[in-house]
Amino acid sequence: MSKDAFALAREAADALRARASVDSFDVALVMGSGWVPAADALGSPVAELTFAELPGFAPPAVEGHAGQVRVLEVSGRRALVFLGRTHLYEGRGVDAVAHPVRTALAAGVGTVVLTNAAGGLRPEHQKVGDPVLIADHLNLSGANPLSGASFLDLTEAYSGRLRALAKEVDPTLSEGVYAALRGPSYETPAEIRMLRTLGADMVGMSTVLETIAARQGGADVLGVSLVTNIAAGLAGEPLDHEEVLAAGRASAGRMGALLATVLGKL
Ligand code: HPA
Repeated sequence: MSKDAFALAREAADALRARASVDSFDVALVMGSGWVPAADALGSPVAELTFAELPGFAPPAVEGHAGQVRVLEVSGRRALVFLGRTHLYEGRGVDAVAHPVRTALAAGVGTVVLTNAAGGLRPEHQKVGDPVLIADHLNLSGANPLSGASFLDLTEAYSGRLRALAKEVDPTLSEGVYAALRGPSYETPAEIRMLRTLGADMVGMSTVLETIAARQGGADVLGVSLVTNIAAGLAGEPLDHEEVLAAGRASAGRMGALLATVLGKL
């Protein structure tokens, strides 16, 4: 992590404030693959910027990631909604991955909601289309947004208070451990068996580095995975990115309503 990364985040935050004519924001949401329809369900934006207009942001490489930031008033909270994220596998480095979260923190946000699409490792009690709260993570990405002697406690990386709030809104929500690999290849069946043995419940290629960056900045994190497929080798079918996006579209209404109600309780 370089000093420059934080200066760039402050520049982007200033650009957001100027465009939205707002001094400070309450909450940021990062919408993962398949979550764009859920963002639409949050309501109409008061301002909308493309990543190209913001310092340090690059257009997303992945289909299903729109590359926009929306400013919304959701349930009385000023929200920054990032449609799309940078993944480590895009090769732009950890600072690019952490940049939206650092920008949000520089813009005053104290709560970060990180969403993603994930493979389900427990088909015995997870269905495609189920949201699962992230209770903890395994960072197997090989990277970390912190460097030097930036020791950081991650005992409660994902806020217990925010998970309890989400469960008040939807008592059927379950919790799980999210394992992040670098990707972009999906896992082999042997890797999936390994992850199950390690105690993971979901697998994906994002979120954990953003969580670490948010915790470093003192923000509370709510993580939600949408199980878009059963992980490799467990369902006897090959994985397909289009399937991931379709699961998002199918669950959009439920996800949008869940997020909006949780925001109202912050
Ligand atoms: N593996 C890794 N990342 C994913 C998956 C998966 O099965 N599904 C959605 N993102």
